[in-house]
Amino acid sequence: MGDLTLRHMRGADVTSVIEIDRLSFDPSWPASSYYFEVNKSTCSHMVVLEQGEPNGLSASRWWANLRGRQATEIIGYGGLWCIQEEAHISTIAMHPDQRGHGYGELMLVAMLSRAVRLQAQYCVLEVRVSNTVAQALYEKYHFTVRGVKKKYYQNKEDAYDMRLEFNEDVAAYLHEQYDLLCVRLDFTDHYSTTPHPRLG
Ligand SMILES: CC(C)(COP(=O)(O)OP(=O)(O)OC[C@H]1O[C@@H](n2cnc3c(N)ncnc32)[C@H](O)[C@@H]1OP(=O)(O)O)[C@@H](O)C(=O)NCCC(=O)NCCS
Repeated sequence: MGDLTLRHMRGADVTSVIEIDRLSFDPSWPASSYYFEVNKSTCSHMVVLEQGEPNGLSASRWWANLRGRQATEIIGYGGLWCIQEEAHISTIAMHPDQRGHGYGELMLVAMLSRAVRLQAQYCVLEVRVSNTVAQALYEKYHFTVRGVKKKYYQNKEDAYDMRLEFNEDVAAYLHEQYDLLCVRLDFTDHYSTTPHPRLG
């Protein structure tokens, strides 16, 4: 496993992000939606998880450059909207080859921590009723089902409407889980507490 970096998504990441999106969702978001989120939206805090060494002149980076290959690659991404007191997880996906290592959880806890820091009072999301893997992740973070949105998806599948109220206990749990991930995974976080490049 190489070094991992959590950071704000940039326009230059969109090509890699839509590859993961297409492997993860049907229908996927068009590239234009990501460019809007990154360059125009006033409420969007998109995250990427990058593997490799983003900075420095390490031997591996030098060698990768020499061979014309990227020294880093995007392996996952997520979307958080924060509008006043409401946070919304708009999307989250890991590359299929990188699932099951705690990375999706790392992105989720980073987005939730950022939402708490932005003074959101609660977080909502929608998830397919068939998506038991994602539901398990959200349940681990104490999201509960508040309703069903009938035929929410293009293929007419229903969505569970899930919600997490932020309070002191939840903030403490987020800290605790983040600390456990710090022990388990070798990562640098330039997202949770770092100002957004446009929104601050
Ligand atoms: C959902 C997703 C982001 C999870 O990322 P991941 O890196 O594979 O998950 P993690 O390894 O971080 O696992 C975190 C938790 O998710 C749940 N989980 C992960 N894989 C699971 C599996 N195969 N079966 C059941 N639960 C699972 C568990 O609760 C796990 O916690 P645990 O390790 O304490 O058991 C990933 O599966 C994915 O990209 N899926 C496709 C896109 C998608 O469905 N996104 C959600 C849209 S609402």
